[in-house]
Amino acid sequence: MKNIYKNSIKNIKKAKKILNKNNIIALPTETVYGLAGNAYSDKSVKKIYTLKNRPRINPVIIHYYNLKFLKNDAYIDKEFLKLYKKFSPGPLTYILKKKENSRVSKYSNAKLKSIAVRFPSNKIIRNLLKDLKFPLAIPSANISTSLSPVKSSDVYDEFGNKLSFILDGGITKIGLESTVISLLKKIQILRPGSISSKEISKVLNRNIKYQSKINRIVSPGQLKRHYSPGIPIKLNCKTVDDKDAFIVFGKKYKSKKNIFNLSKKGDLKEAGKNLYRILRKIKNLGYKKIKVLRIPNNKIGVAINDRLKKASY
Ligand code: TXA
Ligand code: MG
Repeated sequence: MKNIYKNSIKNIKKAKKILNKNNIIALPTETVYGLAGNAYSDKSVKKIYTLKNRPRINPVIIHYYNLKFLKNDAYIDKEFLKLYKKFSPGPLTYILKKKENSRVSKYSNAKLKSIAVRFPSNKIIRNLLKDLKFPLAIPSANISTSLSPVKSSDVYDEFGNKLSFILDGGITKIGLESTVISLLKKIQILRPGSISSKEISKVLNRNIKYQSKINRIVSPGQLKRHYSPGIPIKLNCKTVDDKDAFIVFGKKYKSKKNIFNLSKKGDLKEAGKNLYRILRKIKNLGYKKIKVLRIPNNKIGVAINDRLKKASY
């Protein structure tokens, strides 16, 4: 895998050079690995969509170093600032009204009036962002509808040599994509993640809900099937045959060849971190079917169940 580059000063320089030429690279964030390109360049953004085979109507997230850079591109308000102070940099994505004179490529947000913005906390990507003269458009580094990558070899698994530069940053800390919150007219969560609606509600001092109903074309994961290993998944199962893979959670399950435990100690954070890694492993082992035990539906469990549900369509 000679397109995987370890994190070093020399390779960060190389990454910057590629991005400055409006070419694209894969890199780690604290959530999952992403495919990154200059968000101000139509050419870069188009390359991302083509490589991912992503429908043009599905907008991507624009990643910034800090607020200073965002101000030319989006309108912010008091609610945004409250959340920003508490959760950024980190795994929270805000949907904001795009400024009319913003330089963000219209191809990155499906020509909508809004843009999704995030301030990642991973040190490697921050190191890049702080020296670039543009924000980065970054969707997850997987073929559209497939599983998100949590390590550099997963990115290779998705794209092989079609991508010339994958920056390695080990296994991602969180393992699930960021929480997406819309701050347009009605404040609502569009995609659950490791930052829960409860934590968000506390900061805003009112009840903010996850809008799981897919009723508008621009809601995340709108294309029902998503995050999928490409084999049938059945949720809320109690038992399983030896020939199927069984994903479980908690200490009462014995280790067996076809049993995959998201967290033996019953820790939801750990389960979130392991989810995509285990799904990819099961897929690569050649199982024809996956069954999943019921996973507690609180905290990050809401995000885990959301991904499993979308993977099961
Ligand atoms: O953790 C993450 O967010 C990762 C890392 C790489 O940062 N990125 C990620 O990007 O998950 P992606 O493209 O796989 O998912 C972005 C989600 C999509 O579901 C998209 O529909 C939604 O954000 N989104 C982007 N712009 C939007 C907008 N203007 N309005 C509503 N939803 C939007
Ligand atoms: Mg994705």
